[in-house]
Amino acid sequence: MRRKVIVYIATSLDGYIATEDDSLDWLFKVEGEGDNGYSEFYDTIDTIVLGRRTYDWIMNVEKENFPYKNKKCYVFTKSTQEPNNNVEFVDGNIVEFVDMLKDAEGQNIWIVGGGDLLSNFVKENLVDEFIITIAPTIIGKGIPLFNKQNMEIELELKSIRRFNEFAELHYVKRQSDNN
Ligand SMILES: NC(=O)c1ccc[n+]([C@@H]2O[C@H](COP(=O)([O-])OP(=O)(O)OC[C@H]3O[C@@H](n4cnc5c(N)ncnc54)[C@H](OP(=O)(O)O)[C@@H]3O)[C@@H](O)[C@H]2O)c1
Repeated sequence: MRRKVIVYIATSLDGYIATEDDSLDWLFKVEGEGDNGYSEFYDTIDTIVLGRRTYDWIMNVEKENFPYKNKKCYVFTKSTQEPNNNVEFVDGNIVEFVDMLKDAEGQNIWIVGGGDLLSNFVKENLVDEFIITIAPTIIGKGIPLFNKQNMEIELELKSIRRFNEFAELHYVKRQSDNN
């Protein structure tokens, strides 16, 4: 079976992944349960894809402690970046890129975000599964999980889990749409 591309992300109830000024304070103050399923998911992937703004946010918060050191990490950017040992900066056709990743042996592929990069993946229907963790918080405005675009992607609801105040919804691509 080919590797799957999985979005695993947390959102406000009204569909934002961060405030307009990139704050996740509203998310971190929600009472979850354990690590809310994170390590269980993390063990199922060996490749991580991030947008450059999400990468910058992580580097800003984590400083020297890059959190995904044991995984192959790709950061999408159109700008020139200083090379480093933790990630590979990539650009170009995302359909071909995902095809290349899926052809390789390995575990699943996690798209961390953010909304901008994700919108490109969703537009091309490249996402096999969405695991969306919903915080019980309405923040009114911010960076949207799904950008506005013409599309209709039908999914199947695989499971619903509760981690105290968080609700996790797991959707998979319909079987007939799988490639
Ligand atoms: N709630 C959560 O679980 C969660 C998860 C992830 C992120 N976040 C938050 O989301 C925010 C960032 O999201 P965002 O939507 O603003 O930005 P983003 O998607 O992380 O990054 C956008 C950047 O990625 C690059 N990019 C996107 N599509 C590309 C393509 N097709 N080809 C080449 N490069 C491409 C561009 O970089 P260049 O400008 O360098 O060309 C673009 O400016 C942060 O606040 C972060 O904390 C939250």
